[in-house]
Amino acid sequence: MTNPEQDILRPHAEQLYADELEALARSDDRPRPQRWNMSPPAVVTYLLGGTLSDGTVISPKYVGPRRLMEVAVATLATDRALLLLGVPGTAKTWVSEHLSAAISGRSTLLIQGTAGTPEEAIRYGWNYARLLAEGPSEQALVPSPVMTAMREGKIARIEELTRIPSDVQDALITVLSEKSLPIPELGTEVQAAKGFSVIATANNRDRGVNELSSALRRRFNTVVLPLPATADEEVSIVTQRVQALGQTLDLPEIPSASEEIRRVVTVFRELRSGLTSDGRTRVKQPSGTLSTAEAISVVTHGVVMSAHFGDGVLRPSDTAAGILGAVVKDPVADAVVWTEYLEAVVRERKDWADFYRACREVDH
Ligand SMILES: Nc1ncnc2c1ncn2[C@@H]1O[C@H](COP(=O)(O)OP(=O)(O)O)[C@@H](O)[C@H]1O
Ligand SMILES: [Mg+2]
Repeated sequence: MTNPEQDILRPHAEQLYADELEALARSDDRPRPQRWNMSPPAVVTYLLGGTLSDGTVISPKYVGPRRLMEVAVATLATDRALLLLGVPGTAKTWVSEHLSAAISGRSTLLIQGTAGTPEEAIRYGWNYARLLAEGPSEQALVPSPVMTAMREGKIARIEELTRIPSDVQDALITVLSEKSLPIPELGTEVQAAKGFSVIATANNRDRGVNELSSALRRRFNTVVLPLPATADEEVSIVTQRVQALGQTLDLPEIPSASEEIRRVVTVFRELRSGLTSDGRTRVKQPSGTLSTAEAISVVTHGVVMSAHFGDGVLRPSDTAAGILGAVVKDPVADAVVWTEYLEAVVRERKDWADFYRACREVDH
């Protein structure tokens, strides 16, 4: 391997799309906010794709309303932080990574929010050996990703903000309102350089876990990422992502997977909405979210099955087990939902006979 990055299982966006980012910055003559690697319109082009004046093709990363991305990018050019809200699998993490890669050239100043996230993860910690040996000093201080982002004028990312306990979340209020992080032990503070901002993500379904305080909510502009509006849109997201994942995972190319992808998306959308695509039959909804992200995993897994254990064409037998696994999260209630759907909907579709048979086989 000549390029060590090709040996990395999951390169960061700024590594994977280095060429696109470089071309965008080069051809961009619009005004840039201070320390931004490119102008706000160029960031939106990076997200939604397009062709530059020099002919460089920018691949689409986000599939959805352009306006949402414009609002998100514009927010980061103001003094408010950005909160991406939505059900699981609506590309909140994905968009946050790409926004910070495009704007700051760095998507790795990241805090993963959990119930156990301590205040040090947001503010700073100490290297205890040095702290004991030398007392508090700049050298003994271990900066958090937020502190580093403030110093360097970059974007810090906070994943799953609402899972973080409320008192820890509050550490962000001063950071976002005063743009300053006091260090009382040293009698100093870190003042944010221009370009600093925060992108947080939160899950709709976590509402009530640790509700954002109103003081903190005011510091954020919220952009709600929707589920794909139409089946065509969702098919195109799944197709694009499966292809890109296949390249990073060195999977063999699978010809004409489109029929199976459409079927996976149809099943997911029907169960998610509780209504068949012709609008005629009501179906029960399973407990899981059946997100686009899960559809991507089901198809990717199917591609691997087909390449290694099948005939190199994506077949219903390659995806059936994955679909069942995504739908049946609760072994009792969801199994009933699935069986009803299988018998009332899948079985009735003449051109779905192979799929019906494949599903029956994994069922038993
Ligand atoms: N609208 C969309 N456009 C592009 N990719 C999407 C979209 N919705 C979902 N995805 C894909 O789904 C996957 C999971 O998304 P992720 O960002 O982890 O979801 P979330 O953080 O909202 O739970 C990503 O690989 C992403 O590419
Ligand atoms: Mg996420």
